[in-house]
Amino acid sequence: DWKMQDVLDEEIKTIQSMVGPDEHVICALSGGVDSTVAATLVHKAIGDRLHCVFVDNGLLRYKERERVMSTFESDLHLPVTCVDASEQFLSKLKGVKDPEQKRKIIGREFIAVFDDFAQKLEQNIGKRPEYLVQGTLYPDVIESCPPPGSGRTHSHTIKSHHNVGGLPKDMKLKLIEPLKLLFKDEVRKLGSILNVPDSFLKRHPFPGPGLAVRVLGDVTEGNALETLRQVDEIFVQAIKDAGLYDIIWQAFAVFLPVQTVGVQGDQRTHSNAVALRAITSEDGMTADWYYFEREFLGDVVNKICNNVRGINRVVQDITSKPPATVEWE
Ligand code: XMP
Repeated sequence: DWKMQDVLDEEIKTIQSMVGPDEHVICALSGGVDSTVAATLVHKAIGDRLHCVFVDNGLLRYKERERVMSTFESDLHLPVTCVDASEQFLSKLKGVKDPEQKRKIIGREFIAVFDDFAQKLEQNIGKRPEYLVQGTLYPDVIESCPPPGSGRTHSHTIKSHHNVGGLPKDMKLKLIEPLKLLFKDEVRKLGSILNVPDSFLKRHPFPGPGLAVRVLGDVTEGNALETLRQVDEIFVQAIKDAGLYDIIWQAFAVFLPVQTVGVQGDQRTHSNAVALRAITSEDGMTADWYYFEREFLGDVVNKICNNVRGINRVVQDITSKPPATVEWE
């Protein structure tokens, strides 16, 4: 792909001229397509002056930390440090119900973790990193705030989203955002030129605030996060088994803080409901809900209700974007 090869060459030059020869850069790897491609690109530009960190914020999916770390090591050969900050994030989120508030708190905590990582690095390499790499994409930018000079106007913020709005103004690190003008499909092409394995490139997008925007309301209440992880894993695994993963843009479960009456065995239950959402999309800006076959859905719902404690009702979200957004919060 000539166009993406040009983009790659340009970006590498830009990064090399921006980052001085003895300056260091940190990168937060989420395990998703964007940050992985961004990191691989920057690594190509500046080599081992790039230091990656993977943060477990307590809002990750089922076994995500183990899965992602092992793939980084075996497939990508990027130097990655894993930081477990889950208690730090979850204690700050306790009692917080407002979606925007949650995003802001999470954005702040991420920066606190990066600053801390940068400080420790400084002790090791004798130099403070100056830059932070982010895998921000073009749709993230327009949905949060229009980039200056982009010629686009977008008078209101839909969500203070995506790496962009969530960062505090007083952050010391300067940003490198090599994917800022690209759409997802272009990032995937760029990744394949950079030999990023398909297992990364084909992963569904996952929001930076993680399961915090998929547990409606207070994420620390009861067993919501753990319950959601189990439901989500069953749903996504079923999609993979059915060979549907690659044609679906995103599929996930949402934990509803709603209790409904059910009957399991001879017992009346009063347990939580969950929603399943699967969409197709080109760029995440608009989306269509995905029409599953009846049998597939029936099997998934049975599996969820039989295996996940505390769930007695499953609904499917069949709203497109617009009018709904992809995430419920
Ligand atoms: P929405 O919900 O705005 O989502 O229709 C569009 C795409 O963006 C993802 N998303 C986020 N990504 N931080 C992120 O990094 C966020 O705060 C965030 N909110 C939504 C969403 O998963 C979808 O792919």
